[in-house]
Amino acid sequence: MVTIKAPRGTFDVLPQAARRRLRLLRIADEVLGRAGYEPFETPIFEDTELFARGVGESTDIVQKEMFTFEDKAGRSLTLRPEATAAICRAYVEHGMHKLPQPVKLWTWGPFFRHEAPQAGRFRQFTQLDVEALGSDEPSVDAELILLLAEFLERAGAGEISLRLSSLGTPETRSLYIEELRTYLREHEAELSEDVRARLEQNPLRAFDADHPGTKAVLKSAPRLLDRLSPEDAEHLAEVRELLDDAGLAYELDSSLVRGLDYYTRTVFEFESPRLGAQSALGGGGRYDLLVEELGGPRTPANGWAAGIERILLAAAEDEAAEDSRVYVALAKPDAAREGLRLARRLRAEGFRVEMEQAGRSLRGQLRQADRIGARWTVIVGDGIDVKDMDSGAQRRAADAEEALALVRAAGA
Ligand code: HAM
Repeated sequence: MVTIKAPRGTFDVLPQAARRRLRLLRIADEVLGRAGYEPFETPIFEDTELFARGVGESTDIVQKEMFTFEDKAGRSLTLRPEATAAICRAYVEHGMHKLPQPVKLWTWGPFFRHEAPQAGRFRQFTQLDVEALGSDEPSVDAELILLLAEFLERAGAGEISLRLSSLGTPETRSLYIEELRTYLREHEAELSEDVRARLEQNPLRAFDADHPGTKAVLKSAPRLLDRLSPEDAEHLAEVRELLDDAGLAYELDSSLVRGLDYYTRTVFEFESPRLGAQSALGGGGRYDLLVEELGGPRTPANGWAAGIERILLAAAEDEAAEDSRVYVALAKPDAAREGLRLARRLRAEGFRVEMEQAGRSLRGQLRQADRIGARWTVIVGDGIDVKDMDSGAQRRAADAEEALALVRAAGA
């Protein structure tokens, strides 16, 4: 019989990986909670129309990457490829504009894009998504960027780089796109076929190209950053001042193109040199018009999403090293009661404790303790012994209290 495997571009999360993910979830809750962001969830699927209108008809996501299906009543539904459009829908649906602004939310969960799978690119992946709706203050932009930097640092992503730009208003952008298109047409022969094919629909995508000829042409292309309105330029300057003040380094990069259509003004992306082609750990920006486009009141807003699998790829494997693990070994037949009592006390103190439950010999139990990476083994027999699994040293404790004290002291 042919065995069934997980679908292409998906993966199972086995316990060790699951623990690393939970750790990031806890860090997210802590970092974002301290800044006043509240947890929030939306459905895994939505009306297809939401993403078509929200993310944009001309984007790769909507044109090629959506998992779309019909329900039994013939409605077109889509597995969510991102969170922002759905959060805006919910903001409108629940009248959140009546709450004190900005409304600050975060969510974590699976997202779906039908892309060609490769390292760091999956068809089902996990995002931490953060949104602040209802303020156009530059301090919101700066704070969001700093929160993503803090999250990445705490997650152990290591060295990161930040690219920052502003896309201005749709009017500025459409004038600029016209200017860029005219410029690219003048150099059409030097461009890649792919870029030429997209010249009409989206010349901005030329900035994504790896093609040497295209890159050379783009070096002298007009820059959107030089075409911003005075208000938008001032907004960006204020965001930059706040980032400079916080000591966060970034590169101002007019070629930063995001794969979603809703952005206005600030856009940013964090990358890791530890990853290959899929190096974006997270990114986002302002979307001051999206809530209105989805039927709500004018609501300036801003947010980002980070790819959890990519962060875990970038994070050093040793970040999850558990050095406070204890194994409780049972060296006589009726030791389980004492063993469980010790295990529960140590767990209450924050140790990660497992007790023998498979009837192994003492040698087998010590081997098992090694296997789970225990730092200490507490051996309950005629007395209680505490074994340091690194050095192999073993000490007899006078009683349970002393055994606990020995583990605690070694753990300190
Ligand atoms: P995005 O740049 O499309 O933005 O995705 C954010 C992050 O999700 C990426 O930087 C990457 O780490 C991860 N990611 C995206 N696609 C995949 C994939 N196929 N496999 C693995 N990881 C992936 C957004 O989704 C916007 N909604 C962000 C935002 C929030 N903008 C404003 N608010």
